[in-house]
Order: sequence, then C-alpha cells, then structure tokens
Amino acid sequence: MIFDILTLFPEMFHSPLEHSILGKARKEGLIKVNLINIRDHAEGRHRVTDDYPYGGGKGMIMKAEPIIKGVQAIMSEDPGAWVILMTPQGTPLKQEAVKRLAQLSHLVLICGRYEGIDERVRDFVNEEICIGDYVLTGGEPAAVVLVDAVSRLIPGVLGHEGAAEDDSFSQGLLEYPQFTRPRDFEGRRVPEMLLSGDHQAIERWRRREALRRTWERRPDLLVKAKLSKEDLEILEELKGASGSG
Ligand SMILES: C[S@@+](CC[C@H](N)C(=O)[O-])C[C@H]1O[C@@H](n2cnc3c(N)ncnc32)[C@H](O)[C@@H]1O
Repeated sequence: MIFDILTLFPEMFHSPLEHSILGKARKEGLIKVNLINIRDHAEGRHRVTDDYPYGGGKGMIMKAEPIIKGVQAIMSEDPGAWVILMTPQGTPLKQEAVKRLAQLSHLVLICGRYEGIDERVRDFVNEEICIGDYVLTGGEPAAVVLVDAVSRLIPGVLGHEGAAEDDSFSQGLLEYPQFTRPRDFEGRRVPEMLLSGDHQAIERWRRREALRRTWERRPDLLVKAKLSKEDLEILEELKGASGSG
C-alpha cells in the first residue's frame, strides 16, 4: 500500500511513522509513505500556499492551486490513486470504511490547515473523511489515524494473520475484556474461565462478554451487528438480568 500525504508540515509525521508497528511495516516494505510538501507545488518566489478568505472573515484559507497540482502530479503517475480529503465536514470514519480502503493499493491524503481549504479542491477528491466530531488544528493527526487504522489491516503488518478479527468494530461489536499476568493483581482476579484451558468454553465466554460490553457501552452498534440466534438469546438474558428487558 502506498500512502501519499500532501501536507504543509511533513515533519509532523516523522515520529508517528517511525516507531512500533508502522515503522516495522515501512521497513519491511508492506507500506510506503511519501510525504509531499504542498509548498513544493506553489508558485512564485515565496511559494505562498494560503490567502485571505473572499467575503472576509477570520484566518487564512489554503489555496486550491498548489494542492490540486500536487494531486495531479500523483495522478499523472498513477491514475488509479484514490484521493481523500481530511476534513471535519467529511464522512465519519468507521471500521467498515477502513476495511474498504485497506483493499486499495494507493491512497492520497490531503491535510488542511488554518481555517480550511478552498472549496474547489473538493472537485478533485474521491472521498472526504472526518475522524470525529471535533476540530483539529490540521489534517496531519487525522491522516496519521487513517494510515494507522488502514495499515494494521494489511496482511503481514500485525505479524499474525487474523489478529484484527476480534478487535472492536471488526464484527460490529466491542471486543471482550482481556487479561494478562499476574492472575491476582491486588485482589482483582482474572476470571476463572480464562484459566480453564477449555477453548470452546472460553470462546463462548468471550462472545458473551463482547455482547455484554457492546450492549452496555455502545448499544447503537447492535442494530447493525451480525447476530446469531444464540447471540440474541444472550442479549435477552443480559437485558432480563439487568431488569431493562
Ligand atoms: C481548523 S481545521 C478547519 C475547520 C474548518 N474551518 C471547518 O469548520 O470545517 C483545519 C484542517 O484540519 C483538518 N481537520 C480538522 N478537524 C478534522 C477532523 N475531525 N477530521 C479530519 N480532518 C480534520 C482538516 O484538514 C482541516 O482543513
């Protein structure tokens, strides 16, 4: 997977992309991240990338031209590249979209700054993505989020196949609770079931806990989750036990 990131601040990506799983994935060539300075596509001696908003108002707006030139330079090499604008006005990012994007081979991420970007850039993108209902100072942290979420679904990146399958949102549920050593931490004991060695029983326990956790914390997810007859029975039981049936 190639990620081309158009940004005014390429340095902001160095640390997040150098360490741990993403750093390893880059070293192993599983992902390639190209940082492209939008300023390099700006014209004139001062390579200006922003300007005052038409109609007046606070702050500066990123000019369309350098961004679009940057996109076009990439598209001239690979017309199949998929262009994404990071913006609080985009579609909220969900794991389903992350899975879809992980199937592609070349993503171009545009990071805005200041008060945002000239509206005409939108005509040159395939998709607009928002990472949450809040406003960041720039698209760079949002792009890091997207690169991270997509990369970990690329085969080989997590090291063991299927590692992401039980993760929260993957099957429409939150993940079950996890524990590691010690068995007893200041009186808080690991559930006996997880020490039983009975793998089928542990699977059932985990499914039940995933359902419980989702129902308690994110009942909205249950509306779309693929649930078996047994899952529905467990949910009925949980609701009955809590008295909210
Ligand atoms: C300060 S924001 C501009 C916000 C814009 N004035 C608005 O109200 O929609 C600057 C840049 O940060 C990025 N950004 C901010 N919040 C974001 C979010 N929740 N998701 C994705 N990108 C975001 C976008 O690239 C945006 O162009």
